[in-house]
Amino acid sequence: MPEGGPTRPIAPSGPRLRSDDVELAHFAKPPPGRNQRRSPGKCFVYTLALIVILCAAFLGFAVTVLRVKTPELRLRRVDVKTLSYSTAAAAGASSSASLTAALVGEAVLRNTNFGGFEFSNGTAVNLIYGDAALGGGKIEGGRAGARERARVTVKMEVRSSELAADVDGSRNLASDVGSGTVKLTSYAKMRGRVTVLGWIKRWRTAEMNCTMSLELPGRIVRDLQCN
Ligand SMILES: *[C@@H]1O[C@H](CO)[C@@H](O)[C@H](O)[C@H]1NC(C)=O
Ligand SMILES: *[C@@H]1O[C@H](CO)[C@@H](O)[C@H](O)[C@H]1NC(C)=O
Repeated sequence: MPEGGPTRPIAPSGPRLRSDDVELAHFAKPPPGRNQRRSPGKCFVYTLALIVILCAAFLGFAVTVLRVKTPELRLRRVDVKTLSYSTAAAAGASSSASLTAALVGEAVLRNTNFGGFEFSNGTAVNLIYGDAALGGGKIEGGRAGARERARVTVKMEVRSSELAADVDGSRNLASDVGSGTVKLTSYAKMRGRVTVLGWIKRWRTAEMNCTMSLELPGRIVRDLQCN
């Protein structure tokens, strides 16, 4: 019957086919009924699994992409542009030294965030000798792109005049200048803003803390180390 129906007459076959379909549908109905009873449970399990997977994916995304880390700022090298120094050994106990130098450092700003780090003009750099200030400098504004290492120029000036009030510092400097090596610490707190995905903005402060030895006769900086 099912084979003969469609082949013989073309026009009247339509209704017959429909009736066949209906009968087939009746036969087919009981199994779907059972399926319908099963599916809500499966559907629930699938939905739950999907929610768990989405949550895990979002958590992973949040931990890696949205967590904003503090960039690192480290001096790579420091060049001596100008240098002048002298020691005046006064006949008495107090000897004094004069030291001025212009240093240009190349620092690397390492930004591991999935967003750029922008810092404004004028980050202050302190040059520290012992416990005292011995000059300083400024860092111009700039930017490190997402997951980028940006080069930053750090201009510093050594000024012994700042030590004048520090008697111990002056005495030590006179002795260090006499020996030809002056140890300095270059310290800066660079405040900037990290922008992730264009709408998450967080302030972070990259710290630079580097020690170095200024070699006077050689007019070079060596033993550069950053924490
Ligand atoms: C940054 O400051 C320096 C001097 O302090 C100035 O010469 C320079 O034009 C400033 N740059 C910007 C972008 O404001
Ligand atoms: C710089 O690092 C040295 C050595 O880790 C530490 O003793 C010193 O306190 C640091 N300076 C600042 C200003 O954090």
